Amino acid sequence: MSITEPRVRLTWNDKPSEPTSCAARLEIVEPGHPSSMLVEGDNLQALGALARRSGASAALVYLDPPFLTGRQHNRVERARDGAGKIQRSERPAFDDRWAGMHDYLGALHSRLSVARDLLAPHGSLVLHVDPKTSHYAKVMCDEIFGPDCFASEIVWRYRRWPAKTKNFQRVHDVLLRYVKDPSADPRFNQLYEPLAASTRATWGTRKQRAVTDDTGRRQRSSSTEEESPGTPLGDVWEIGIVAPVARERTGYPTQKPMALLERLVCALTNPGDLVVDPYVGSGTTLAVCAALGRRGIGIDQNREALEICKQRLRDLGIEPLQERVSAASVVRKADAGAQPAARSKRLRRAS
Ligand SMILES: C[S@@+](CC[C@H](N)C(=O)[O-])C[C@H]1O[C@@H](n2cnc3c(N)ncnc32)[C@H](O)[C@@H]1O
Repeated sequence: MSITEPRVRLTWNDKPSEPTSCAARLEIVEPGHPSSMLVEGDNLQALGALARRSGASAALVYLDPPFLTGRQHNRVERARDGAGKIQRSERPAFDDRWAGMHDYLGALHSRLSVARDLLAPHGSLVLHVDPKTSHYAKVMCDEIFGPDCFASEIVWRYRRWPAKTKNFQRVHDVLLRYVKDPSADPRFNQLYEPLAASTRATWGTRKQRAVTDDTGRRQRSSSTEEESPGTPLGDVWEIGIVAPVARERTGYPTQKPMALLERLVCALTNPGDLVVDPYVGSGTTLAVCAALGRRGIGIDQNREALEICKQRLRDLGIEPLQERVSAASVVRKADAGAQPAARSKRLRRAS
């Protein structure tokens, strides 16, 4: 792999000089189909154990970490009471409170470094963040992967109930895609979006061929007989959030829509490829992988999240293999955010 100079570096207080490594192992808790695997425990340790066990084998690692919201996220459940009225209850799902940006970035940095080790040379890592942290995350990924490994910044644009704010509504997330090895042929399947209405009105739905002059400059287009598959998909994706009444809704906070993951999985992997999601939550990635014939590994430290994920896979006829992180010794520091006890001590110190 080549990393072009000059190297960029994002720095903050207490940043470790080298990535954390853990000596954790995985142990089987429930046997199941190895095409879908769920790992319970901290993802830094689980990723390290997976990298040691299977080497660089994943076509896609998708990370959807907490977004530094500064709050606890709850799972919402609705059930009818004896009188037939819908009752709403909430239970804690995951904690997104940090001692500060440095704490958050430190946790992300170690995990991105280990996740990179899991990628096959043709593989991609996609980091899903929001505009509050995406600029830091991009510089950090440039540092970890090398700037020439940057492939795309995808803007996921959605509609939601307007917030009361004297600001423009925030209606997008950012997905940063990095390739493992810029000299390798990346796994990439071209997807298409419908032709623009103006293109259809002028040219119809036939494929256009660019006509160039002797110097190679584009003059005009000419129509072919072939039907156009559409326009090659751009990097701004308009996809609805999971609606309150959607069939796929699980009630797990921050659940991502299957349509978003379907695009990533179809574009960046082939059937049979391995996809790893270290922040699997309700299991959107694994459900999409199972439906599209990809192998999936999902990691989460919240057992309830894994139960939801397991149910989604069962609904697709798959009994997942379940493992958990066993004894670990963290070799370096910077495990910020990985161990709730250590983190809450830091939060207390910071407040
Ligand atoms: C934003 S949610 C992921 C939502 C998921 N993409 C979905 O569609 O449901 C983040 C998840 O990461 C988990 N998580 C956070 N920190 C973790 C860590 N250090 N190790 C393992 N899981 C973690 C949380 O429990 C939560 O379920």
